[in-house]
Amino acid sequence: MNRPVSSTLAVPDLGEIPRHVAIIMDGNGRWATQRRLPRAAGHAKGVDRVREIVAACIEREIGNLTLFAFSSENWRRPQDEVSLLMRLFMSLLEREVQRLADNQVRLRVIGDTSRFEPRLRELIRNAETMTLENQRLTLTVAANYGGRWDILNAMRCMLRDRPELAQNLESIDELALQPYLAMDGIPEPDLFIRTGGEQRISNFLLWQLAYTELYFTPVFWPEFSAAQLDLAIKSYQQRERRFGRTSAQVQDPC
Ligand code: IPE
Ligand code: IPE
Ligand code: MG
Repeated sequence: MNRPVSSTLAVPDLGEIPRHVAIIMDGNGRWATQRRLPRAAGHAKGVDRVREIVAACIEREIGNLTLFAFSSENWRRPQDEVSLLMRLFMSLLEREVQRLADNQVRLRVIGDTSRFEPRLRELIRNAETMTLENQRLTLTVAANYGGRWDILNAMRCMLRDRPELAQNLESIDELALQPYLAMDGIPEPDLFIRTGGEQRISNFLLWQLAYTELYFTPVFWPEFSAAQLDLAIKSYQQRERRFGRTSAQVQDPC
């Protein structure tokens, strides 16, 4: 496997279609509240959108889709809502994995899954194993994920495997840390989308978003359709990605 290029070490090869789209699926609760529905109804509707956006990414030949499903800070929510989100995740894994497999989708879950109950952990393991060889789309679900957790966890794992690095601090560089980060092997996101109107990263892929193009939309996640995805891609296609260079260099790289 060719290692994806780090955007801070080299300028990646770019195409019209983003190789990797990462989405913060936000606004489920407000969508429901606006309709005088319980927040749960917003989360349920959000699941339908996951299906639609996965299918849209396959059609558009976007190779990697990463979805933020539950952050390391979402445990702060009322217990009822946390339980509901876990149940939704479990039923999605139970019902949809076969469909993902049939569509050549590889499912990965990133985040600290040790805090999940054993049944959920088993469903995750089975889904990952069952779809391991699939290559059409890699769907990464970030669950109990936090960008700071990812970096700290990577640092700990690296030093556990290679304790000699602590004696030679100069040798700790990006390439040393990279294999231990949750998104190792996957190109950095080209396009980040956050639905729901907030303009923040909320501890999502802090390391990997270094040079990602950011797109914020007021549309709530339960209303984020394939047509909305196309608007985000269109906006992405109008950006000039300079990676530190001047505009003149980008236009005439020789
Ligand atoms: C996103 O929608 C879903 C999760 C965080 C799991 P929210 O539940 O955050 O919806 P709002 O932001 O309250 O509207
Ligand atoms: C971010 O949304 C996390 C997910 C979508 C899973 P939040 O709704 O939790 O983010 P904040 O709290 O508004 O920053
Ligand atoms: Mg929110």
